[in-house]
Amino acid sequence: MARVCVTRALPGAALSRLAAAHELAVWPGAQPPSPAELRAHATGATALITLVADRVDEDLLSALPDLRIVANYAVGYDNIDLAAAARHGVSVTHTPDVLTDATADLTWALLLAAARRLIPAADHARERWPAWQPDGFLGVSVTGATLGVIGAGRIGSAVARRAAGFDMTVLSCGRDHAGLGELLARSDFVSLHCPLTPATRHLINAGTLAQMPSRAILINTARGGIVDQRALAAALAGGQIAGAALDVCDPEPLPAEDPLWQAPNLLITPHIGSATVTARTQMAEIAVTNVLAALAGEPVPNPVPHPNAVSR
Ligand code: DGY
Repeated sequence: MARVCVTRALPGAALSRLAAAHELAVWPGAQPPSPAELRAHATGATALITLVADRVDEDLLSALPDLRIVANYAVGYDNIDLAAAARHGVSVTHTPDVLTDATADLTWALLLAAARRLIPAADHARERWPAWQPDGFLGVSVTGATLGVIGAGRIGSAVARRAAGFDMTVLSCGRDHAGLGELLARSDFVSLHCPLTPATRHLINAGTLAQMPSRAILINTARGGIVDQRALAAALAGGQIAGAALDVCDPEPLPAEDPLWQAPNLLITPHIGSATVTARTQMAEIAVTNVLAALAGEPVPNPVPHPNAVSR
C-alpha cells in the first residue's frame, strides 16, 4: 500500500478508487497548503496529486525520496519544475483534452461579456434602472470582427473553431510567435492560449499592448504571468486598448490592494476556465488513473510533453 497525497478534495468519485487500494491523505484546508505545509503533508508520499497553486520544486522533491509521480490536476504544469522532477526520477502527468471545451466556452463567455459590457449592465439593472437608453451600455460587435488567437494548441484551436459561428476572421500564431505583430495590429479581440514558459512570460507587455488598436479587447484564460499586469493597467487607464477580461492573474488570488482592480473596462474571474462538473470530474479521473498506473509500475497515460513541445 502506497501513501498518496492530494492537495485538495476533488470533485466526483475518483479519489475513492485511490482510497480502495492505497493510503490516501487529502489536504483538509480550503486554502492551498504553504510550501512548508505541503512538505509536511506529503511526507512519505509515493504519489502526489497537485493543483495549479502548488509549487513542485527542488525543495519539495528532495524532501520526498519515495515519490514516483506528480499528477497535476490541470493541463498546464508551469507550477512544476520539470527538470528537478526528471533529476529525481519522478514522472509528471497532466489532464489534457477533458477541459478543452470548458475552457474554450469560458473564453467565449468572457469575450462576449467584455464586448457587450455584460457585467456593468447586469449590475446596473439590479441597482438602478431608470429607463431604456439609446446610448446605454453600447458595446462592440463580435459578429464579423477579427479574433487573434495566441497559442494554437488544443484550447486555442477550440476557441478558433467557435469563431466560425460569429463569421469572424481568425488570425493565429503558435510557439514561434511568427506573425504576432500583424495579429496584434489587426485583431479586435486577442485571446491568449499559450502555456506560461520563460519565452511567454510578459509576452503581453507595454510594447505589445502598444501594437494593439485602441478598439482591441484582450482575453486571458491561460496563465496570468503571460501578461505584464502593470502595463495592462496602464493601457486600460490610458485608453490604449478598449478592455480586458482575465480568468487568470499573477498572483492568484489577486490581492485586494492590487492596482489592477482599479483599471477601467476590466473583468476578472477566479480561474474558472475548466470549472464545469464534467471537466473537473474527468480531470480527477485522469489524475487518479495516472497515479494508479505509476504505482502499478505501468506507463502513465498522460505524461507532460517534452518542455519544448508544450501545447495547452
Ligand atoms: C489548467 O488545467 O491548466 C487550468 O488552468 C486549471 O484547470
